Amino acid sequence: MTSKPDIGIIGGTGFYSFLENPQTVEVETPFGKPSAPISVGSVEGRQVAFLPRHGLNHQYPPHMVNYRANLWALRSVGVRQVLGPCAVGSLKPEYGPGTFVVPDQVVDRTWGRKHTVYDVEGPVVHIGFADPYCPRGRKAFLSSATSETGALVDGGTLVVINGPRFSSRAESQWHAAAGWSVVGMTGVPESTIARELAMCYSTVCLVTDHDAGVEGGEAVSHAEVVKQFGANIGRLKSLLLDVIKALPEAESDEDAQCSCRRALDGIELP
Ligand code: ADE
Repeated sequence: MTSKPDIGIIGGTGFYSFLENPQTVEVETPFGKPSAPISVGSVEGRQVAFLPRHGLNHQYPPHMVNYRANLWALRSVGVRQVLGPCAVGSLKPEYGPGTFVVPDQVVDRTWGRKHTVYDVEGPVVHIGFADPYCPRGRKAFLSSATSETGALVDGGTLVVINGPRFSSRAESQWHAAAGWSVVGMTGVPESTIARELAMCYSTVCLVTDHDAGVEGGEAVSHAEVVKQFGANIGRLKSLLLDVIKALPEAESDEDAQCSCRRALDGIELP
């Protein structure tokens, strides 16, 4: 590796084409192997690390992704700013397929996942998570809207279900009635572990469907999610390129002073 990547992207395999002169880095972590070797290359003159969340062959379903190893591995190659784009269902009729939502809150309805790096005996650690997403990352997303992306939705709540099944109509109506905006399967514990490691983390949610309950329409299918994701991957890539350009340089004052980086002040990593 020439220099350390400070930005990491966790996304679908379609993002490999981003990287110029990519090099592969095999990383072992205290939590086992990440979903795949990390690819590091240059994007817009900056070193960026890429990790396919679901593995090289899309073999890890959302509840089986090794989120702890993924975040730990990115941190160990130098990443401090993580972008975690994901596909979601919409809980609001006005957010149709293709809409980009930059949430500012998250609700965790997952269970049975390895959700913390602090699960060894030792000093008890409680990490602040009132504001789950990095303000600099969110700002970079929101300032990168173009005629191609359309206006990005600023804020809203991502509810994360365990999957791999989609929601029932009753669950979907319940999530919508609670005022939540979009539903996905990977946002937790990806975002919570990033905070536990004092890494900045932000996401853009690409709406692929209207979930099960909104307007009582068609139920969501995997095929529809894949189709809509494929139809919008180009827009998502061009958004991420602009976000990389918009993020403050590593170790600049704005970067170093980010509140996410102080999540561990006075706390030792396990
Ligand atoms: N990912 C894409 N669409 C989804 C949905 N409706 N529910 C959960 N995760 C999703």
